[in-house]
Amino acid sequence: MKKSYYELLCKNYDKNKDRRIADLFNDEDRFLNFSAEACQLCLDFSKTNIDAEAKKYLLELIATSSFRKKREDLFCGRELNISENRSVLHVALRSSVNELVINNCNVMSEIKETLSKMEEFSTNVRLGKVVSSTKMKFSDVVNIGIGGSSLGVKMAINALGPYSDGPRCHFVSNVDSANIADILKNLNPHTTLVIIASKTFKTLETLTNAKTAISWLKKSVSSSFSEHLVAVSSASEETKKYGIWKDRVFSFPDGVGGRYSIWGPIGLPVMIAIGAQKFLSFLAGAEKMDQHFFKQEFHENLPVLLAMVGIWHRNICKYPSRAVLPYEHRLAELPSYLQQLDMESNGKHISSDGQDLNFDTSPLVWGGAGTDGQHAFYQMLHQGTSIIPCEFLIGAHGHEPHLKHQHDLLIANCLAQSEALMKGKISERISLVAASKECLGNRPSVTLLYKKLTPEVLGSLIALYEHRTFTEGIVWKINSFDQWGVELGKKMSNELLPSIQNGVGTHALHPSTFGLLKKLNEY
Ligand code: F6P
Repeated sequence: MKKSYYELLCKNYDKNKDRRIADLFNDEDRFLNFSAEACQLCLDFSKTNIDAEAKKYLLELIATSSFRKKREDLFCGRELNISENRSVLHVALRSSVNELVINNCNVMSEIKETLSKMEEFSTNVRLGKVVSSTKMKFSDVVNIGIGGSSLGVKMAINALGPYSDGPRCHFVSNVDSANIADILKNLNPHTTLVIIASKTFKTLETLTNAKTAISWLKKSVSSSFSEHLVAVSSASEETKKYGIWKDRVFSFPDGVGGRYSIWGPIGLPVMIAIGAQKFLSFLAGAEKMDQHFFKQEFHENLPVLLAMVGIWHRNICKYPSRAVLPYEHRLAELPSYLQQLDMESNGKHISSDGQDLNFDTSPLVWGGAGTDGQHAFYQMLHQGTSIIPCEFLIGAHGHEPHLKHQHDLLIANCLAQSEALMKGKISERISLVAASKECLGNRPSVTLLYKKLTPEVLGSLIALYEHRTFTEGIVWKINSFDQWGVELGKKMSNELLPSIQNGVGTHALHPSTFGLLKKLNEY
């Protein structure tokens, strides 16, 4: 981070940290000057302690980082993921341009070809033209995948429930047999399509579950099981071992990271659920946000402003976490999706050029849907000893016009919460009860408003978060596109397996692991 701006920001914070956010609204234009609008979304960050001076320094901090150059690299598909020698290509998946040449190859041809193949396949599944081995229409789709090969699809399918008129979709991610057993027990193998989604086709959880699902299919349809299988992967060769037909393999470029992959064939279940046209609207919404992010001035640029707030809270105010609070029941999976997006991308202590970072990077990202969360963890948000910046989301319209009174209640709750967090309720501590009721307030939040959660708005929303993560990562000098930290645990679980399965090598185990394994065997 540029030291001079960092120091100026710290000075601003020290001077103003005890000021009441509510008092900033003595400026009657506060909401106007601390909010921005684009792509049917409005970002309000007026309920933070950022003032005009802090905003100016924060935007300078971003401007004087390598942001402009790296943003251009992102849109040109240049090699941003240097620890894996890869370009970063998720933006290309939703781009309407016809040409993007990388290493003398136009990647757009492959992307467009796959998109057409997805459109054809999903339409035929929905119409019952692609049928099961027993010539039955597919009623259910099981997506077997984990992390980026599951979280985004699950989130989007839930979010777009009102637009879904295709087969039901189920998700198997965990290696815990409970996950697959609970899903398969309610399904008919004769009408089930299994999508094995794994970028690498090497992920233990996914391959283990894939084998279990194939055995389940074989029991009912014997050698015709391939008619029930689809693979989505960047490693097409690997898929051969599972009996998946070549024309049922949907591939995507290596440069698309797992957590950024919903825009391509990893999104196939979404396309099957809502239909190709609506999936294209989802991509169009994301592309609109891309254009906005690429061209808009910083002070009106939604992803830049959201990143600016993130940096302020994390690096200047030193808040360790942020809560994502969608007042949209169908976005209940958004916090989990953003957990991977932010924490896997920016949870790093080494810079992209291998140096130790001496400032904080990704906060802990968590949350849950309002109003359920209000009756679970909001107590701590209002009266706990830690300050957690909150990010509220709310749509102007729901999808049930006949239940508008419930949507009004939802809006009332959402707006009331952010105001209550800001204003608090300072009481004179004349009794224990009065003291216990005190809410100190001055707890910051941002609110993202949108018209209605349509496929297009969801596309813009997810692209907004992706670019926010990218911008924060640039300021933090991180390679946001690798995830080496995940590897260590994976490697160690593979090494442990022989000790668990047949007691091999237990003498070499760490005493703590040995003690736990011994207890498990005794139980
Ligand atoms: O959790 C690590 C990770 O590599 C994620 O980045 C990825 O989304 C997930 O595993 C699944 O990987 P794959 O799609 O290759 O099975």
